[in-house]
Amino acid sequence: LRVKIGVLGATGPAGRGLAARLSDVGYDVLAGSRERVKAEAVVAELREQWGGRVSRITPANNQAACDADVVVLAVNADAALATARYFADQLQGKIVVSMANHLEKHGTEFNAILPPHGSIGKEMQALLWRSQVVTAFHLVPAAEFVNLDRKMESDVVACGDDDDARHTLMEIISAIPDLRAFDGGSLENAVGMEAFAAVLLTINIRHKVRAGLRFSGI
Ligand SMILES: NC(=O)c1ccc[n+]([C@@H]2O[C@H](COP(=O)([O-])OP(=O)(O)OC[C@H]3O[C@@H](n4cnc5c(N)ncnc54)[C@H](OP(=O)(O)O)[C@@H]3O)[C@@H](O)[C@H]2O)c1
Repeated sequence: LRVKIGVLGATGPAGRGLAARLSDVGYDVLAGSRERVKAEAVVAELREQWGGRVSRITPANNQAACDADVVVLAVNADAALATARYFADQLQGKIVVSMANHLEKHGTEFNAILPPHGSIGKEMQALLWRSQVVTAFHLVPAAEFVNLDRKMESDVVACGDDDDARHTLMEIISAIPDLRAFDGGSLENAVGMEAFAAVLLTINIRHKVRAGLRFSGI
């Protein structure tokens, strides 16, 4: 039996794209927003564009989307920790996925803003001590997600302290065609992906490209 997946902030480019991809490969998805009507409008747009491929997405408010077994925080990066704190009780016992890149732009350079525990992932696990936090998707451009006809051609590194939670998320990632999942170890390493997002975006600005992450030699 497949897990149900909730996406908080599914109205943004990253969340709606992820919801669409997951529905397309057969997962039931609760697409959340702070305002349910916004989620309804986004799901209607997705249905118009992709028809039956997104039929497994149900619009919800963020609170209802927390009912899923796996909950992805796809809210604006500034709001990721506050949202996690707000829903801490509902998220108890669940796998919570952080994809937040908290970045600041200085000229043509991005830098990561890291919280006291070293990464947003670790900070979130400290807040959600009754949940299993896994980090992933930091380097996947939202534009790649939302076009279901395009190959993903990205590698996704999952970091998390709980082995089962990390493996469950890797299975979900691998279900999306051409997206490869890699085990990046515990949350100690989440900082590597969060900080590398700043490097990747800087490269994309300075080289005028839209590069993603793909490991060689595999
Ligand atoms: N965009 C990318 O290419 C990309 C790639 C990899 C990772 N990420 C990460 O994925 C996450 C989502 O990215 P995005 O570009 O889709 O973000 P976004 O458009 O900035 O925000 C996504 C959604 O977050 C909700 N939101 C905004 N402010 C909020 C607040 N104060 N409290 C609670 N919810 C709030 C909004 O939904 P409602 O108004 O409907 O509630 C909004 O539609 C971020 O953490 C980002 O770092 C993005």
